[in-house]
Amino acid sequence: MTIDEKVRKTLKELEAKTPDEVNNLFAGVIAAVESERQKLVTRGTADESERERLAKELRDRWLARKSGIISSIDECWLKTAPKELKPAVGRAFNELRKASAVLETNELLKAIPLKRRGKRQGELIFSADAGTSKMGGRDLTLPGYRRPLGSVHPVTQVMREIEDIFLGLGFSIESGPEIESVYYNFEALNIPESHPARDDWDTLYVNSQVLLRTHTSPVQIRAMEKHGAPLYIICPGKCYRHDNPDSTHATMFHQVEGLAVDTDISFADLKGTLDFFARKFFGEKIRTNFFPSFFPFTEPSGDLAISCVFCEGKGCRVCKESGWVEVMGCGMVHPEVLRHGGIDPGRYSGWAFGLGVERFAMMKYDINDIQLFHQGDARFLEQF
Ligand code: DAH
Repeated sequence: MTIDEKVRKTLKELEAKTPDEVNNLFAGVIAAVESERQKLVTRGTADESERERLAKELRDRWLARKSGIISSIDECWLKTAPKELKPAVGRAFNELRKASAVLETNELLKAIPLKRRGKRQGELIFSADAGTSKMGGRDLTLPGYRRPLGSVHPVTQVMREIEDIFLGLGFSIESGPEIESVYYNFEALNIPESHPARDDWDTLYVNSQVLLRTHTSPVQIRAMEKHGAPLYIICPGKCYRHDNPDSTHATMFHQVEGLAVDTDISFADLKGTLDFFARKFFGEKIRTNFFPSFFPFTEPSGDLAISCVFCEGKGCRVCKESGWVEVMGCGMVHPEVLRHGGIDPGRYSGWAFGLGVERFAMMKYDINDIQLFHQGDARFLEQF
């Protein structure tokens, strides 16, 4: 007779007439509790959801309020027990209840092990364990955790690409402080305090004399002071502006500054170099165009435009149907700026440019929101 059949019969039908016979009957039930539980614990489960399912199944089989084995015993054995057997049945029943507490779902979940791998691995778990008991059930054959590999940020990649092109032309790389003085950021660049051009740069001031540099141009002065002429440098770095963030403005962004100072430098050198650079960076098909512009530190000043990379100059939304996209400011270094750098403008001349790295990256990779570069979202960064 199975345990399920037994618990649906009365003590009378089972011919348990004495306390000893009752105890024997209950002992058989407690043994069944233990053996069913043990079976599950030895077997283990492959995953969490199977573990939950099996634990719940066994718990309900025994402890479910209406149809569980324990409540069957309550109904068929305890309630129908003849008066003289009641105390013995009651005591044994209490013992059974205590013994079956191990079948509560929580207890089962704790006891049933997860065997992550197939059977073969299960055997290996055992042998690894047997060899070094200190390993306490850890499966030494499982692979280790794989750390996700990082990659170079797209802004850094573009910056390095620009650096490589200019290094190839014999330029060297300079750097300067991001926390800069008003003198280097403005005054030495021919932008006096009263000059309306200061309004062009929405400046974050630390105090009246110190600010976060709004462009990389102050490095021009620092480099001239440090090295004198002739000088061929680029300066990649961070800049800061008090701008409201939107798809083309960020409070922090990157620029690359360029400066060439030598005897007999002319606007032709500027055009030739920047045309070469634009074709190296965007591809040989690119054409360049120089538009007049204004910067206080260059005279004459220009904006370099390239033929639109998206429509190849035919006219589209990006280039506002003009076929040209402005990519950087440039010009011949103003004599006053050379003088501030300690260089004699009677002997030397120079050209300079400044470009936005995020903007270059956006054009190169067809990205329409500058904010994406600075949000650190791996789903975006992973693509480069
Ligand atoms: N500093 C300028 C800016 O942030 C960019 C620039 C324009 C740099 C012309 C130059 C230059 O060196 O010659 O808007």
